[in-house]
Order: sequence, then structure tokens, then C-alpha cells
Amino acid sequence: MNTPKRYTITAALPYTNGPIHIGHLAGVYVPADIYSRYLRLQGHDVAFMCGSDEHGVPITLKAKKEGVSPQDIVDKYHAIIKQSFVDFGITFDNYSRTTAKIHHETASEFFKTLYDKGEFIEEVTEQLYDAEANQFLADRFIIGTCPKCGNEESYGDQCEVCGTSHNATDLINPKSVITGATPTLKKTKHWFLPLDKHEDFLKEWILKEHKKDWKPNVYGQCKSWIDDGLRPRAVTRDLDWGIPVPVEGGEGKVLYVWFDAPIGYISATKEWAEREGKNWEPYWKDKDTKLVHFIGKDNIVFHCIIFPAMLKAEGSFILPDNVPANEFLNLESNKLSTSKNWAVWLHEYLQEFPNQQDVLRYALTANAPETKDNDFTWKDFQARNNNELVAIFGNFINRVVVLTNKYYDGIVPKPNKFTEKDITTLSLTRSYPKKIENSIERYRFREASQELMNLARLGNKYIADEEPWKVIKEDECRVQTIMYIALQIAGCLAVLSEPFLPFTSDKLKKLLNIEDKSMEGGYVSDRYIKGITWENLVDRVVLDNFIIPNHKLRKAELLFSKIEDSAIQAQLDKLEATKKINEAEEKIVEPQKDTITFEDFTKLDIRVGTIIEAEKMPKAKKLLVLKVDTGIDVRTIVSGIAESFTADEVVGKKVTVLVNLAPRVLRGVESEGMILMTETQDGKLVFVNPSDANVANGLHIS
Ligand code: 2FM
Ligand code: ZN
Repeated sequence: MNTPKRYTITAALPYTNGPIHIGHLAGVYVPADIYSRYLRLQGHDVAFMCGSDEHGVPITLKAKKEGVSPQDIVDKYHAIIKQSFVDFGITFDNYSRTTAKIHHETASEFFKTLYDKGEFIEEVTEQLYDAEANQFLADRFIIGTCPKCGNEESYGDQCEVCGTSHNATDLINPKSVITGATPTLKKTKHWFLPLDKHEDFLKEWILKEHKKDWKPNVYGQCKSWIDDGLRPRAVTRDLDWGIPVPVEGGEGKVLYVWFDAPIGYISATKEWAEREGKNWEPYWKDKDTKLVHFIGKDNIVFHCIIFPAMLKAEGSFILPDNVPANEFLNLESNKLSTSKNWAVWLHEYLQEFPNQQDVLRYALTANAPETKDNDFTWKDFQARNNNELVAIFGNFINRVVVLTNKYYDGIVPKPNKFTEKDITTLSLTRSYPKKIENSIERYRFREASQELMNLARLGNKYIADEEPWKVIKEDECRVQTIMYIALQIAGCLAVLSEPFLPFTSDKLKKLLNIEDKSMEGGYVSDRYIKGITWENLVDRVVLDNFIIPNHKLRKAELLFSKIEDSAIQAQLDKLEATKKINEAEEKIVEPQKDTITFEDFTKLDIRVGTIIEAEKMPKAKKLLVLKVDTGIDVRTIVSGIAESFTADEVVGKKVTVLVNLAPRVLRGVESEGMILMTETQDGKLVFVNPSDANVANGLHIS
């Protein structure tokens, strides 16, 4: 398209049935934020829209599980998610929600327009019904085998394994998620969007127009759906949580969540425009507006096929120019999972790494799943921080600011004669805005972040090679030039890092004293250096009009700090504990043993005892040698609990002892009984013990 007049950028509306994790941030919100911040720095008119996706079955299921209303669930998670976005510097112009009045009105109106234009097929069909729960089973209320890939846990509307979107009645062996029952079929009326009717348009628009500029993964998925043949899709559901179907015969039915959610981008824009005193329409209807949807790969069909078909059918809207969907991020080689708690939750990350948002933003961008699924590892996170942010970016800035303060009391020196190397370094510096721009414009944020780091690398190498701390002893004039050049690089880093490392960029601008002090109430993270944009940055460096001589810097402050091995180990331990809990939950409960008689039971002499001494059995990992007061006597028992307890920890513990077990010699020590133990979910042994400390030793347990 020609140079756009404005940009409408959307980021997938997150489901509001849980907090958000690194997968969300890496796949959608960080790239969308980098892109929006970059566009604003370019001086463009940008509307960056998002909000909570608050309808749909997952929310109803969560509410049922917790015994609260769906509204309670969405209120809770909307607040948590919104705060996470603020905390991580995601600069939405509006973060709305689909339970907002304006959204219900906008989505109803959209539906009515299509209805009035005859764009739907109205049909009574047989749908899956759970007679026990007395309700129809749509979407995530039903699981069964995917007809395409054979995944046995596919949802009614989409298979998470192969990404296929289907109708619930297509599932093989469907089962109700509510009661586990096999559903029956029951007649009900619904409205269908005839995707087949839009097939020609979609072929022309995607397969011809966007073959070259859409990412291969996005284009490939679209092509495969189109090649498979498109079929009508129901856009209404027999549910009670959602936007009521606003036409005759729609009583008791709601809009399909995937019909209303993308319209959420439009309602968020309306809400924002109302607040800002703007007109929302050009952002969605002017052909000179560039519309870009940032999503994860599981959302491709909805944003590239269904929503465009809806927009086309409505008639007055523009279509997305691009849908740069990302692949998935895994965590330490396993799929991120909310239900299995296999995730790094953003709110928890901030408690454990306070004020280190940029480290996570950077690690996720440098390792973004742009062309294939990628793995987040804590070791890589640590390396990105320690070897790149601290050792290159932070080290360079610190040297520049410290030395300028030391040699010139913080005042930018006037340069003298440039050497060949100075000229090359300056000219390389000037090439970076274009380099980063080229990568961002092609949605290659990973590459862009590496170019940024290369600029820091250039500065770090320049100052290390020129060694101003040595040269100062014999040639003060030369040091002025070295520091002047290094400061130009630092200034460029302050501007160019803003989309990627917004908190660092703010700090750096403060150190360099180049923030716009005319802004009231502190500073706004974009466009706050008076008059400096991405575009004119190069000119300013060329014209020596950026970090100019006599300008005074502030005192040095560290931008980043080293992350120690212990902090990384703590995260790995946390994941290990989660893994153990999950494994324990998955463990099949052993079947009951053969029945015994009461007489058999009475043969067991089980008593209350107290451990009075304990020591580790030499050269045995698992064994403790205990002295136990059984009430009858004090005896030795060898117990395999050393991996769960130290000797000191168990002294004084009340325990349950099988006292008439035949003695056994273990590693040369005779053991006269057995302490009864069980295991926690994460595999730690615990005593089966009398909870009342007043129970006397020697008492029978019967
Ligand atoms: O996959 C999801 O998390 C959906 N809630 C995304 C919705 S995107 C849009 F259409 F609203
Ligand atoms: Zn499948």
C-alpha cells in the first residue's frame, strides 16, 4: 500500500479466565508494542487496540469450577491482566473489554447489519446436547477426536493440535465436558456465515494479493483451509453467557465468541475515540489506514478468513494489511499450559525480578517464536541479561557516563580532529536507524533487537579499543573526540531502544539529560524528546546536533544488573516442583489389594512413638538410623527417609510405628520396626503421625 495515513494495530484479546504468561507476551503483546512504539517514534498516527475477551465457554467453565458467576471471573482477571500490561510497558491506546456496553452495542449492530443484508443462512440443525445437564454443548463444552489429525482431546470448535477449526458435530466420539456423557442430537435454530460464498474473494485477496508479504506460516495455513474448501460456520450458540442474538428467534441464544471478539477491536477503537474526542471511523474505514493484527498461530483462521469475511460482508470496513502471527513459545522444552501451571506468570515474574521488565521483554524478543516454535529457558534468559544487556549495553553506557562525569564534570566535550576509525564509527552509527527500521517493517523483531544490540556492541568495542582511560594520560584532546563519539552512540541507543527496552530507554534519556522536561507530570515514554524522532535522528547525528558540546549529563546509574545463578536455580526448582505435582496428579491410583480378615489386621501391632535420636547412616543416601521411644522400649529403626529429612529435623517427631515387624539387618544395623510414611504430591515423604501431641507413646492404633 502507499504510505499509510494512519495505523490501526490490534493485539489478540486475551481470554479472561486466568492471568497471562510469557507465551502471551512473546507471541503477541511485545511484538505489537514494539511495532506501535516504533510507528509513534516515526511520527505516525497510531491506534493500538486491545481488551479482554470475556465471553465464551472457558469462562463459564472456570466460573462453574469456582462456584462464582462468569462476571466475577472476568472482573477478577480483567484487572490482573490489565495491570500486567501496564507493568510491562505495553502501550495500548485503549484496553477495553467485551462485557462493556459499547461492545455489546457494536457487536449486536454488526450482526443486525449482516442479518438485514441477508448475509446469513438461517437453519435448524441437529446439535450436540447433554440431556443430563439439560444444555447444548458448544465449543469447549465438548471434547472428542479431531477428524483431521486424530487428537482425542479436540474441542468442539477447534483442535489445538493441528489448528483445524471445525463444527462440534464433526468430532468423533464426542463427550460432554460437564457430565462426561455421550451427547445426543437435538434440533435447534442457528445463523451461519456462508464462508463458501466468500471463497472467491478470499482466494483473490489472500492467495494472490498477499502471497509475498504475509509470513509463510500464515499464508500456508490460509491456503490449506481454502484448498480444503470453506463451509458455512455457525455464528450463534445456545448458551446463556455472551451477547444476546439481537434478531427475532434469537431468544436464549448468544453470538459465538469468535464472532464478537474481533469486533472488540472496533468497539475498543470507538471507546478510545469517544474519550479522545476523535472520529473512530477513519481507523476502520479509510483505505489509507493500515490495519495490522498481532496474534498467535492458533488464531490465524479467525483473523485471516472468518473476520475478513465478516468485514467484507458488512461492506464498509477495510481489511487487514498483514497478520504477522507468531508460532508458540515453549517453556524448558514443554508446552506452556495454564491448567498445568507450566508457565512464567507475569505478575509472579515481577515479584521475583522487580523492575526487570526490560530483561524479559528483551529475552522474549531475542528468542521470539517468529518462524518456528521456540523454547524459553531460564539459562538463556540469564545469558541474555548477563552477556548482552549487562556486559555490552550496560557496560558501554556506564563507561561513557562515568568517564564524561569524571573528566568533564558531566559536560559533553567538543570534538577535535576525527580519525579514519572515528569517521567509520560515526557512519556505521548512522546506518542503524534504517537497519532496525527495515527489520521492524518486515515484522522481524528478533532481528531488529539484534541490530540494536549490535549498535551497543559497536559502542562498547569503540571505547574498549580507544581506551580513553589510558590516552587521557598523554593526549587530553584525543579523549574529547573519543568521548564525543561515544556519546553520539549512547544518544542513538537511547532513542532506538525505546520500542524494545522502554524502561531502559527512559532511564538512559534521563542519564543523558535529553528527556523533554516540558512534559507535565514526569514523562511519557514515547516522543518525549523534543523534536527527536526516528526519522531525524540520523540527520541530527550528521549535523552534530544531538548530544551537543556543553550539554550536561546527569550522574551515572547502572541500567542493568547481573542475574546470579541462585536466582535462576530458584526458578528451575519452582518448575521442578510443578512437574512433580503434575506427575503425581497423573499417577494412576493403585488398585486395592486383596481383602484381609479382621484377624489379619489385628496381627499388626501399630503404636504411637517419638523419635528421640537420629543420625545419618554412613555411605547410604536414603537411610537414617533412628532411636524411637515406642512406649514399650527404646529401639533402633532404620528408615529410608534421608532424602526428605535431615537427622536434626526428625528428632522429637511423633510417629506411627509398626512394632512387631520381624527385625531386619540393614547395612549391618538391626532395624526393629517400621515408621509409617506417605508421600506428598511433589514426592516428599511425610510421616503418618498422630496430629494430637498429647497422645502418649505406646498407645495402640486400631
Ligand atoms: O485465543 C485467544 O486468547 C482469544 N481470546 C483471542 C481473541 S482475538 C480477537 F479476535 F479478539
Ligand atoms: Zn486436529
